[in-house]
Amino acid sequence: MRETVHAWGLSDSGEPAPGLGYYWHRFWEFGGDFRLWILPMCLRGILRRHQFDSPHIVALGKGVTIIRRGGQLVTGSGVRIADHCFIDVGARGLLSIGTRTVIGPYTRIMAATEVRIGVRCMISWNCSIFDSIGHRLWLEETGEAEIEAPITIGDDVWIGPYSIIMKGVTIGPGSVIGAGSVVRRDVPPKTLVYGNPARPAGRVVRWER
Ligand SMILES: CC(C)(COP(=O)(O)OP(=O)(O)OC[C@H]1O[C@@H](n2cnc3c(N)ncnc32)[C@H](O)[C@@H]1OP(=O)(O)O)[C@@H](O)C(=O)NCCC(=O)NCCS
Repeated sequence: MRETVHAWGLSDSGEPAPGLGYYWHRFWEFGGDFRLWILPMCLRGILRRHQFDSPHIVALGKGVTIIRRGGQLVTGSGVRIADHCFIDVGARGLLSIGTRTVIGPYTRIMAATEVRIGVRCMISWNCSIFDSIGHRLWLEETGEAEIEAPITIGDDVWIGPYSIIMKGVTIGPGSVIGAGSVVRRDVPPKTLVYGNPARPAGRVVRWER
């Protein structure tokens, strides 16, 4: 005769059904090497969920530093942040990184107010993106300098290595920033800029990863 076993109670024969402890014991007994990494993996998952308001997979390289002083860090899925990047989101800051955007090693992003990075962007190594000058500054000619202003980087933007993106800049979708550029003014969509200060040097038809 077939006998039904209810997970939460007695079997038809009156024997108590195995509880959660039984399954845990079996897992622990036969888990082998699996046991050694399941706990660290769970902890890593929990920490990641805490750092990023994202239900999706975010790949972090070695030595990535993320300082969240109370602001918001929002990412899409498939975001990759390479080794030794430094991310600092201020108390009133918002940093959003769009789906499938890749950030190269040693890049530094500081969001005191708002930094929005679009989807499928490729930000190379050793770049700096900061929306604040960090300290108050007075000039004879213009008085007190504006301390912070939001940065917006459109979708499909490629930023070459060693580039600096400064406060208040908007980079249009599909644009390319040449290596070593200092971007202080807005960049129209699908435009190649380079130099210090970065100036338009061509129209982008498309670029590939
Ligand atoms: C965007 C980029 C690819 C444009 O390259 P390109 O169209 O082949 O440009 P060229 O090398 O033909 O250079 C054309 C002119 O622009 C100048 N130029 C090109 N890129 C420059 C840059 N980043 N900074 C200053 N000048 C630059 C060149 O000196 C050259 O000037 P000239 O005509 O007076 O000699 C290039 O600027 C760049 O950033 N290369 C690095 C890419 C890189 O590092 N990739 C790594 C993976 S992220």
